[in-house]
Amino acid sequence: MQAVSAGIAPALVGGPRHVAVIMDGNGRWARARGFPRTYGHQQGRKALRRLVEASLQRGIAELSVYAFSSENWARPAAEVAVLMRLLQAALGEEVDDLARQGVRLRFIGRRDRLPEGLMRAMRQAEAQTAQVTALGARLTLNVALDYGGRQELVAAARHMAEQVAAGALSPAQIDEDRLTAALMLADAPDLLIRTGGEHRLSNFLPWQLVYAELYFTDCLWPDFDAAELEAALHWYSSRERRYGRTSEQIKQQHA
Ligand code: IPE
Ligand code: IPE
Ligand code: MG
Repeated sequence: MQAVSAGIAPALVGGPRHVAVIMDGNGRWARARGFPRTYGHQQGRKALRRLVEASLQRGIAELSVYAFSSENWARPAAEVAVLMRLLQAALGEEVDDLARQGVRLRFIGRRDRLPEGLMRAMRQAEAQTAQVTALGARLTLNVALDYGGRQELVAAARHMAEQVAAGALSPAQIDEDRLTAALMLADAPDLLIRTGGEHRLSNFLPWQLVYAELYFTDCLWPDFDAAELEAALHWYSSRERRYGRTSEQIKQQHA
């Protein structure tokens, strides 16, 4: 994967280019209706499809969604198995449509612990939608699967240490750009949306989100729709992104 370095520069507050989403609350949504938690995951899949549609309509260029964390392996084996099957089925059924719509799919996270069938579907989906790139992708959809932010940083540190040991890199050359390029996701989201009422990152993109605007909503993920996205975008548009500067400097710059 080609890593693109994203420098931090004061930006005019328009719509966000890159939106990250922690899709949380599937289990509670289902339990509140007397269904097993896994039914919530099925409905959550539909909410993700809606998010992609709404993002295409809103001209969002990049979406990064948290589908399964490194820590989610600690869940009951039966729930993990259902999630893996659901992800594989979703890929099989949606990729043609996504490619037609100009959506490029990418995955971030470990690739060595997932079921073989799912990994095959991921490779296939990436290969199929990579062709979209040539025609000009409308949306890049990064799916975080067996992803952990600290693990990603450790892997990047190890990678650079190996380069130093091999004589290909000197410690003095290690800077923010080089570390960013060693990550699985180089582009920094402008806006993070977390559904489900929790106010935490749960190990999602700790490096990439340092300057993101953080939006938390009690809406449970299966209920998320275009109107909820609209509410988040509206909130985002009222933020002033100062990146350490003063409000006066930002206003002057935009005058
Ligand atoms: C998010 O919903 C989906 C995954 C973590 C895979 P949850 O399953 O965490 O739902 P709650 O938070 O228990 O309601
Ligand atoms: C974060 O949700 C992971 C995903 C949405 C995939 P969790 O439900 O696993 O987060 P915690 O455990 O409440 O922090
Ligand atoms: Mg949760």
